Amino acid sequence: MRQPFFYDITLRDGNQSLKKPWQLKEKQFIFNKLLELNVQAVEVGFPASSHMDFEACKSLADMADNKTVISALARAVRSDIDSAIKSIGHAKIPRVHTFLTLSPFHMKYVLNKEPSYCAKTAIEAVGYAYEQVKKINKDAQVQFSVEHFGDCIENIDFVIETLKEITKAGASVINLPNTVERTRPKTFINLVEKVIDALDEDIIISLHNHNDLGMATATTIEGYFAGATQLECCLNGLGERAGNTDFAQVAVALHNNGVKVPVNLDKIYETAVIISQMSKVQIYEKAPLIGPEALAHRSGIHQDGAIKTKDMEFGAYRPINPSLIGRDDDEKIGFTSQSGKTAIFEILNNAGYPITMPEAIRITPHVKEVSEQKGELALDEILEIYFREVLDIKGAFELISFKHLEEDNFALEFTFRGEKKEVKGCGNGPLDACLDALKNAGFPRKLSHYKQYALDEDKMGSGATAMSVIHLVGKNGEEIIGRATDKNTAKANVKAIFNALNQIYN
Ligand code: KIV
Ligand code: ZN
Repeated sequence: MRQPFFYDITLRDGNQSLKKPWQLKEKQFIFNKLLELNVQAVEVGFPASSHMDFEACKSLADMADNKTVISALARAVRSDIDSAIKSIGHAKIPRVHTFLTLSPFHMKYVLNKEPSYCAKTAIEAVGYAYEQVKKINKDAQVQFSVEHFGDCIENIDFVIETLKEITKAGASVINLPNTVERTRPKTFINLVEKVIDALDEDIIISLHNHNDLGMATATTIEGYFAGATQLECCLNGLGERAGNTDFAQVAVALHNNGVKVPVNLDKIYETAVIISQMSKVQIYEKAPLIGPEALAHRSGIHQDGAIKTKDMEFGAYRPINPSLIGRDDDEKIGFTSQSGKTAIFEILNNAGYPITMPEAIRITPHVKEVSEQKGELALDEILEIYFREVLDIKGAFELISFKHLEEDNFALEFTFRGEKKEVKGCGNGPLDACLDALKNAGFPRKLSHYKQYALDEDKMGSGATAMSVIHLVGKNGEEIIGRATDKNTAKANVKAIFNALNQIYN
């Protein structure tokens, strides 16, 4: 399958839409990032638009490597073309990109010119650009864009005949912009296919889709499969109005559809973040692939699927493994009233608080209830409920004190339904001895599991804290999980037993 050719327009169409277009140093910095991304062509600017942009284009052409096409925009007038050649003609592979509308509406109401005049102007401009740029660089190329190509439904035959002449005049790349996205992708692609069928095979067909209706990526992807090779994309979808086709979306969508994409996909996220900072255009929360929310799951069903497939290449609720674009943040599980037990389990375990699924199930309704009022809960808010509902269970038993004397001699003081009890026990360590003392007090319970964790200092206040988890066999043979924390490890164990007792005798 032919490889797509990524023609980056961040520094031109993206730049011209900014509230403060980039200055030389900023353009230089971004240009280097684009080279690292390994785009095949960079449209460095519109030299005739300002002295600053002329100088920037000149400087980026100096910095260019030997393989990247360096392009500059020029209206179909000689002075613009001269300016483009002067600024980038010395690059290894310079390209003069000239354009003119051939849309009936635009020719009539904006240019106020006859179609024949526009066709002649475009053909002459391309011929002039070709002749002039080839004089100084034999590797130079000429690209022609039919501005408002998407509006050329009724005069497509005229456009095609003009393009044939334009290619004869020297344009090796024909760009077909959807300058304003007005129709469904298929309608636009039908026009593109007509041009592809009519022009010589060696002419490169390019797409430049604006995103007015939010379908630019779809149109570009389908346009590629219809035969267009050059894809004009802009980082973060910057560009006039609702922007241009988003670079990341196109690169990843092609990759996901089995196309060998010749850019460094793993640089996409880093570059997107830089462009956002430098353009002062925030990446919106829900932006596909690169948005902060693009990896967030809040519904219980989605969380369950996401967690079950999180280490797999293919994820239940994500289009890619985020590392593909160099994103190193994991899928984010946020708890709201729409979330479920799996989220509680995942959030607390990830935060270093071991919780079992039965405990997560137990506290989920309490967390949901709080979330119904507050929305997404922060970890601290979930922990507060966790401490209250899991660690601080009040019930029939209250531990007063215990003493672990020598030779496993254990003295326990507690109340049961307000009545004070003082008992002794012995056993292999404080845990065994405590259970023995409880048996002697008339509360025999069997231990089926025990584990102690060290919680991070900062998680539990100052100093290291132990968390004990014990499983006692309940009245009907069921497992009851007791859990407690304390800086004293023996105390954490005894408190965990009382935590379980309070669940059994409630
Ligand atoms: O949107 C457009 O038509 C353009 C051309 C100059 C290519 O940006
Ligand atoms: Zn454009």
